[in-house]
Amino acid sequence: MRALQKAVPVAPPVRRSAGPTDGEAGVLVVDDDVERGAGLVAVLAAEGWAARLTRSVASPANLDPDVVVVALQGKVSAPLVAELLRSDPRLAVLVVASDLDAAALGLGAGAHDFVTLPVEATALGLRVRHLVDVMFHQRRQEHERRLVGEERLRGVAAGRGQLVGVGPAMRPVHELVRRVSSSDVAVLVQGESGTGKEQVARAIHEGGRRRHAPLVVVNCSALPPAQLEARFFGEHPRPSEGADADVAPTRGLFLQADQGTLFLDEVGALPPEMQAALVRTLQEKKARPLGGDVDLPFDVRLICGTHRDLEPQLAQGLFRHDLHTMVNVVTITLPALRFRGNDVIELAHHFLARFVERDGRTPLGLSPAVVDRLLAYHWPGNVRELENSLERAAALAQSDRVTLDDLHERIRSHRLEDVVVAEAEADIVSLDVLEERYIRRVLKLLGGNKSKAADLLGLDRRTLHRRLEKYDADRAEKSSSS
Ligand SMILES: Nc1ncnc2c1ncn2[C@@H]1O[C@H](COP(=O)(O)OP(=O)(O)OP(=O)(O)O)[C@@H](O)[C@H]1O
Ligand SMILES: [Mg+2]
Repeated sequence: MRALQKAVPVAPPVRRSAGPTDGEAGVLVVDDDVERGAGLVAVLAAEGWAARLTRSVASPANLDPDVVVVALQGKVSAPLVAELLRSDPRLAVLVVASDLDAAALGLGAGAHDFVTLPVEATALGLRVRHLVDVMFHQRRQEHERRLVGEERLRGVAAGRGQLVGVGPAMRPVHELVRRVSSSDVAVLVQGESGTGKEQVARAIHEGGRRRHAPLVVVNCSALPPAQLEARFFGEHPRPSEGADADVAPTRGLFLQADQGTLFLDEVGALPPEMQAALVRTLQEKKARPLGGDVDLPFDVRLICGTHRDLEPQLAQGLFRHDLHTMVNVVTITLPALRFRGNDVIELAHHFLARFVERDGRTPLGLSPAVVDRLLAYHWPGNVRELENSLERAAALAQSDRVTLDDLHERIRSHRLEDVVVAEAEADIVSLDVLEERYIRRVLKLLGGNKSKAADLLGLDRRTLHRRLEKYDADRAEKSSSS
């Protein structure tokens, strides 16, 4: 998984008795190597899962698992994955693969995740945990959908730090948030404007032991440089303000966040002097208010946010390496909303439910045409733009569902074709190239969901696979001949 490259202290796996996964999640291991299979079952059992082993699956329905771990020798896992999902599309399937090629085959056949051999126990536990979370989440939604009808959904009261959207693009984010929550490791959250950097900081804060202490949020680019030190470290009132020596200093951000979490958004905007002061303060874990001579200790977990890649700033000496090392022990990269596929619709329902509840109205759904538009639009302002658009739409809606009329013109009229159409002679490409671009774009938009892409493109799934393979082969051939 892309975002898991850094070593992070691993949270103890949450047992199946916790959270929304309460209940009967069972894991079936299919392995034709009995010794290895027994090892996998032992690992899963040690993580608290009810795991069973079978050498082959004649009829998975009889065994009724929730998660199937497919670990067959060589490359024969893929057909079984496809067969399992055909028999029960609600299964979560994880492939244990000998190498990345085998993993790709498994994923191509519809598997949700993979681990490679040799299997690392904690990784396997975490992946299964994640699959179970995602699966229960989906089932809960299905259940709600059935209860309230396809158009009116959700309204589940959620914690403020809830991260809505569990599609493939967001999976590494969820996994990292869970892993870092229980420690104090410094996290840098990177993502375009409005992607939910503060929301991630909140999720980490609420998921850990500091949740009952304050989360203090500061946007570094909004603070006037002259006030930075006073804001961060506090300040003794000046004599001219009529204060005597006994008056307590104002509490700086570090003290305000004591025992809790300090989220510094747009940390890249801090001027060099302030960066140096921060390094000192973070090392000593003490802040000295301006005009004072006593250092005040604090205990704060630091999370930083940035909408831009800090590397160029580092290279130009505009961001200190030592500060970067301190704040960036783990990076969480938030995907832009346009890459999150169906999460857009889930977020839309989430926001609608919130506005409806806030305004004491009856539930609101989305018309199918609105769903289409929301999926097609490219959301340059990301989740914030979606939230604002739905607030507007909810206010304008005249029935029990949001219709096209309630959407802003820019969303209503945005067309995917606009993005690929040539505007100048130099833009013109062959139909083959256009086809590849379009297919790749659709896949991106759907968060890599090939079955859905094939469906929407009117292609057979195997045809889509063959075309993608052909594009890769063409590219490889071109690069080897050039
Ligand atoms: N995954 C999510 N689930 C639910 N709400 C979200 C999610 N992501 C973002 N939001 C909401 O969207 C809005 C924008 O998110 P947030 O302020 O965290 O973004 P940001 O990346 O910090 O933005 P900026 O770059 O403008 O500072 C907030 O109201 C937040 O609560
Ligand atoms: Mg922010």
